Amino acid sequence: MKHGIGHAHGKLILIGEHAVVYRQPAIALPFSTVSVTTTITPSDQMTVDCIYHNGLLSEAPGELANLQAVVAACLDFLGRTGDCFHIKIDSSIPQERGMGSSAAVANATVQAIFAYFDTDLSGTLRFDLAQLSETIAHGSPSGLDAKVTVSDRPLYFIKNTETTAFDVKAQAYLVIGDSGESGQTKLAVASLREKKEANPSRINHLIQKLGVLTNQIRQNLATNNLHEMGHGMNLAQDYLAEMGVSNASLDRLVKAANRAGALGAKLTGGGWGGCMIALSQNLETARQVREALADSQASQTWMLAL
Ligand code: PMV
Repeated sequence: MKHGIGHAHGKLILIGEHAVVYRQPAIALPFSTVSVTTTITPSDQMTVDCIYHNGLLSEAPGELANLQAVVAACLDFLGRTGDCFHIKIDSSIPQERGMGSSAAVANATVQAIFAYFDTDLSGTLRFDLAQLSETIAHGSPSGLDAKVTVSDRPLYFIKNTETTAFDVKAQAYLVIGDSGESGQTKLAVASLREKKEANPSRINHLIQKLGVLTNQIRQNLATNNLHEMGHGMNLAQDYLAEMGVSNASLDRLVKAANRAGALGAKLTGGGWGGCMIALSQNLETARQVREALADSQASQTWMLAL
């Protein structure tokens, strides 16, 4: 049977979230432990089967407004407006946890639709279409999620300026803890914008300091300077908290990770819920940190070898 398949994976922002919206650099890592596959098959109506909805795409709830828009944009580009198919989305990426679920779904779906119509898809077009979806989901996305959810290497990224893939030389583990609360990227980004307008010098200073930390951590990754990197992550968490994008659950998990022997810990992604990450020097400490996070009510934990 005619079909089209697309894949993308999760991501973790190591450092630079929020500051990246204001053209400071950020570093993001592909996190392929969690991933999404979209499969397109023939249908006489436009239908979707995913965690939010099983039925007509036109009747999908608000959470799928970005999917509706990206499907329409693909059909428009392909000159296939009015064509119908069935969209099946299988994802293990937790939704609204700062792991890039919306960007990964958009990337996988765009790839699947182009494959279904046997049409080549350039990286630039795929990015533009995924960004369209991200703009609906997040308001003013930097583009980092759309890039890193299809990259197989870590990215150093500056909005509209630079996307450089690099290899990590450091030998360490990241432990990831899910606060169990939905992250609220769109609202957190909007609230920071308001704070920045109300108090430009204070917020601009914090944004700039996060940019400096991103560059420092890029160096630390190249030289395996894990202690300085962990310190940088703790400082980043302090700045993000001062910006008002952390919350009580994330603060609790960050503290628990540091008490259990992490070299540093911070929220990852938009904040106000979602996930945090902690740096551990070896597998034994990583396991202890993981246990401590579970004891501090993390709803899920993962480990990633750098
Ligand atoms: O919550 P996430 O995974 O979508 O990450 C958002 C990262 C921000 O820097 C806060 C926003 C952006 O567009 O880069």
